[in-house]
Amino acid sequence: MGEMLDLVRKRRSVRTYDGRPLSEEDMATIRSFAKMADNPFGLPMEFRFLKGKENGLNCPVVVGTDLYLGAKMKRVPEFEEAYGYSFEKLIMFLESLNIGTVWVGGTMNRDAFEKAIELAEDEVMPCMTPLGYTADQMALREKMMRKGVKADKRKDFSELFFCGDFDSPLTDEKAAELGWELGDALEMVQWAPSAVNKQPWRLVFEEGKVHFFEKQDKGYVNHATGDLQRIDVGIAMYHFEMAMEEIGTEITWVKEKPEILLPEHVIYVATATK
Ligand SMILES: Cc1cc2nc3c(=O)[nH]c(=O)nc-3n(C[C@H](O)[C@H](O)[C@H](O)COP(=O)(O)O)c2cc1C
Repeated sequence: MGEMLDLVRKRRSVRTYDGRPLSEEDMATIRSFAKMADNPFGLPMEFRFLKGKENGLNCPVVVGTDLYLGAKMKRVPEFEEAYGYSFEKLIMFLESLNIGTVWVGGTMNRDAFEKAIELAEDEVMPCMTPLGYTADQMALREKMMRKGVKADKRKDFSELFFCGDFDSPLTDEKAAELGWELGDALEMVQWAPSAVNKQPWRLVFEEGKVHFFEKQDKGYVNHATGDLQRIDVGIAMYHFEMAMEEIGTEITWVKEKPEILLPEHVIYVATATK
């Protein structure tokens, strides 16, 4: 198992923090990394530390920290995959520093957060994360929440990864025939975080290409967040690219929608080429 997969397996959403404020050193490290958390779409994103009490911020699922990290960007077409990619890059970096995070798109007093981050008319702040050090024990409400969304489980590969079309699940043999050496890529995608743990990413492999799709559920698109499940796909794209980078395969992202029959509620997002 590669180092990146270790990190992906170690990460979980943290909603119970131990109350210690983040050290100045950690804040400085985060500040400088955030400036480099770019994405393949070249869409800039701005991260800001937000203090809870000072701004009247409230995230009812979280206990033990008063610090949040918000991120906003221009509302341009398909901003969601860029947002998912860049924000997850930061989340994984924070994991490597042993700083607890949880993607939060719903459970917050959004008006206060948007005011605190000074959101402009043409900007969007789909999500934020609390920041702090993970408590030894989860609060009861966190345990209940994890149980509610089956947070420790993920879908089988056969539901997520396909070969050529949506009728043919990917097998090791088929991946090899198509010239894909995958390292830990499938597991890294499988264990990505997603809103309500819906895991909406679907990947169709072809020779030299992997098409990323979103399987849409009802209720995840609104003005304030855009399409949260498209953000999930951006997260999965980052995980895939990390895995490929680890085995020395450079990925380029293109728009190359394949001419294949799509199941209901499945939409195309982007294609990885090598
Ligand atoms: C885009 C996005 C939005 C999310 N919004 C919330 C939220 O509003 N509140 C919350 O408690 N968790 C939220 N989560 C966290 C998910 O519930 C969590 O990632 C999922 O259940 C899997 O659990 P894990 O992160 O511990 O692996 C969100 C995750 C993502 C990716």
